[in-house]
Amino acid sequence: MTGTAELIIDNKRLALPIVVGSEGEVGIDIATLRDKTGCITLDPGYGNTGACKSAITFIDGEKGILQYRGYDIAELAAKSTFVETSYLLIYGELPTAAQLAEFSALLTDNQMLHEGMRFHFEGFPPSAHPMAILSAMINAASSYYPNMVSGKNRQERFPHHAARLVSQVRTIAAFSYRKAHGLPVIYPKSKFKYTENFLHLMFSMPNEDLELNPEIVRALDLIFLLHADHEQNCSTATVRMVASSRANLFASAAAGVCALWGPLHGGANQAVLEMLEEIHREGDDGSKFLTEVKNKTGNRRLMGFGHRVYKNFDPRAVIIKEQCDKVLAQLHKSDPLLDIAKRLEEIALHDDYFISRKLYPNVDFYSGIIMRAIGIPMDMFTVMFAIGRMPGWIANFKEVMEDPDSRIARPRQIYTGPTPRSYVALDGRA
Ligand code: ACO
Repeated sequence: MTGTAELIIDNKRLALPIVVGSEGEVGIDIATLRDKTGCITLDPGYGNTGACKSAITFIDGEKGILQYRGYDIAELAAKSTFVETSYLLIYGELPTAAQLAEFSALLTDNQMLHEGMRFHFEGFPPSAHPMAILSAMINAASSYYPNMVSGKNRQERFPHHAARLVSQVRTIAAFSYRKAHGLPVIYPKSKFKYTENFLHLMFSMPNEDLELNPEIVRALDLIFLLHADHEQNCSTATVRMVASSRANLFASAAAGVCALWGPLHGGANQAVLEMLEEIHREGDDGSKFLTEVKNKTGNRRLMGFGHRVYKNFDPRAVIIKEQCDKVLAQLHKSDPLLDIAKRLEEIALHDDYFISRKLYPNVDFYSGIIMRAIGIPMDMFTVMFAIGRMPGWIANFKEVMEDPDSRIARPRQIYTGPTPRSYVALDGRA
């Protein structure tokens, strides 16, 4: 499709340019709408609003397609690693061997937190949610790198800051877990690769390194890779919005963590497990719960099902389900919650309520189950998502910074409040 779209308002015609993306998706450019007509568009939840042009990730929700920089997610999941995919997302191309070695070295060089950060951790109560700690600590970390917050060479230092963030989000996440559980802090070790190091930081003891299980390392690396970017979702749009004010990389990423925290977004994997626990506590096998969901009793939802853009299947869920089966088979886990999860999945996939609304398991349904099986505590689930999503946020931040046409994000609204009225003194108010 090419050319223009025509809008008629009060018999006045306005030609609006049509913009076509590289995969054929079509947008109507309304940038001049308000200037020329005084009108704005109204689209709560932004379901039909393109807020930017982006060359990072492509999704076709109807066909279940997800591509990072043109590479299909299934191919990357089968052949790549989280670290290599992070490079791809941030810099646009798969790295050469030398580039990958340099990127990996930067990750290792930047994996330690400034020792001063330990005092920040001390300030949190033991009950603090790790997402609260993560967002606060990412923001705090920027204080230790003044040349990121301001300074002429902010752009030149980007590769260091990007690697620092990818690497340190993992260290901060594990520290917050150990702090919350009263465990001694473990430092990263250079001999471990990215995901191995995370498991080491979480589960090793001061004098005894964790014995790594390759299937578990693979499952976790896959979870990170599958979450690495997802187009203009709530948290990525937040990162871009904060970046548009020219806030620094760490501040923008910290805002992304906060947006991710909610149960309708990254918090869904934790919400899946909470739901399974509740079903189990009530002595239900899932049937009663599903009836309540379908009857909309108490606004209940089957967490881990449904997606704003995937309306046939979530391609990430297909990949992670396979790894989920492998991990469960290898660990020989017998877990009543996992039995309930399988039952819910089985019933919902054949139930008209879910089929007619195109509600299928999303990636969080299975990633929550894997993480429970490998011993990641429930309140860390969303943190794991944040570790995975970091390269996507960084890539989006970079895109905003490098876009010569980027403007500060500033949506409009349709005001529905009172029309002008006069102030009434306190003694005259009803
Ligand atoms: N369980 C039961 N019913 C549901 C569910 C669900 N999980 N999701 C949607 N529906 C129903 C709605 O009640 C509505 O029914 P109606 O037509 O009878 O009113 C219909 O399906 C459409 O629902 P919407 O809320 O309009 O769908 P939307 O696309 O806005 O929501 C969302 C997508 C938020 C993901 C939703 O499906 C949901 O809440 N899922 C559970 C939470 C979840 O798993 N989130 C993770 C998303 S993936 C991610 O962030 C990585």
